[in-house]
Amino acid sequence: MTATPARKARPTAIDGEATLEFAADVAAGLNATPKRIPPKYFYDTAGSLLFEEITQLPEYYPTRVERGILAENAEAIAALLPTGSALVEFGNGSSAKTRIVLRAAKELSAYVPVDIAAEFLEEQAETLRHEFPSLNVLPVAADFTSAFDLPAKLRTMRRTGFFPGSTIGNFEPTDAAGFLRHAGLSLGKGAVMVVGVDLVKHEAILHAAYNDAADVTARFNLNLLARINRELDGDFDLDSFEHRAFFDRECSRVEMHLVSRADQRVSIGGHSFDFAEGETIHTENSYKYTVESFRALALEAGWRPVEVWTDSDGWFSIHVLANEADTANQPWLRRL
Ligand code: AVJ
Repeated sequence: MTATPARKARPTAIDGEATLEFAADVAAGLNATPKRIPPKYFYDTAGSLLFEEITQLPEYYPTRVERGILAENAEAIAALLPTGSALVEFGNGSSAKTRIVLRAAKELSAYVPVDIAAEFLEEQAETLRHEFPSLNVLPVAADFTSAFDLPAKLRTMRRTGFFPGSTIGNFEPTDAAGFLRHAGLSLGKGAVMVVGVDLVKHEAILHAAYNDAADVTARFNLNLLARINRELDGDFDLDSFEHRAFFDRECSRVEMHLVSRADQRVSIGGHSFDFAEGETIHTENSYKYTVESFRALALEAGWRPVEVWTDSDGWFSIHVLANEADTANQPWLRRL
C-alpha cells in the first residue's frame, strides 16, 4: 500500500467542525436500529487510498469499464459541453477519469473538484495544475451531499457538472433525485451534466466486485472502524467485525455491512454501544440502475436525458443530461 501522507501538525477549525459532525452521525447511527453509518465517512486519507486500490482490482469492473466508455466517447462528450464552461466535479477522487475529459474538452475555463477528503483533494489539485498549466484548478473542500458555495470566480462562467464513478448509487433513489435537483440549481439553467451510473447485471459479477479475493474491500469497509478509533477515541477491535456485501435484487442495490463476530461492548469517546453476535452496521448501499430507470429519475429531477453510452456488455452507463429547471430567481444561485 502507498504510504499515508504526513498528517497536519494541528487540527484546524474546519477539522474540528467536521469531527463534531462525524461524532454526531456515528452516535446517531449506532443508536439507531438497525445500526448504520453513512458511506461518506469511508473517505479519510487512508480510506481514499484504499478506494484507489479497489479501483485497480480485477473484480472491480466499474472504474475500468467507465474509463473505457469515457475514452471511447471523449470527443462526443466534449462536443456536448458548453464552450468556456467550468467543469464542477462532485467527489473528485483521484481525477483519473477527469483527465480523459479534460484532455478532450480543451475549451473549459476552469476545473472545480469538490471533495470531502480535503488533504487528498489538495494533493490531486496540485498534480493537475502541473499537468494542465493553462487550466484554472479551483478545489472546494466540501461535503457535496449538502449545500456548498462554489468559488466566486465561477460567478460569470457557465457550469458543467461531472459526477462519474456511480457515486450517485450511494444515495437512496429519492435522495439521488434531490441531489440532481440541487445540482441543477447550483449549475444553472442550460447547464449540462455528465453522470456515470452502474447498471443492474448478473449477481455473480456484482458479488465478486464487492467481495474481492485480496480483501481490499473488506479493509476499506473496516477502515471506518479504524477511523472512529483514530478520530473519535474509539476502541473497536477490528478482528471482532467482518465485512459482508451482497446484492439485493428487489431493492436493486449492493449492501455493505460490518458484522459483529461476538456479543461485545464498544466505547467511543466515553459512550458505550452494545453489539449482539451477528448484528451488523449497515455501511453502504450501492444502487444499480437500468438506462431507463436512471433516465426516468433524471427527468423527475428536472434534467432532460440528452445522450447515453454503455460498454458492449451493458455493465455501465455514461449519461449526458441537460438542465431544464427554471433557476432564474433561485437564492441558491445568488449565493455564488
Ligand atoms: C464509489 C460509491 C461508486 O459503490 O461501488 C466500492 C464504493 N464500495 N467498493 C461503489 C465502493 C465498495 C463505490 N462508489
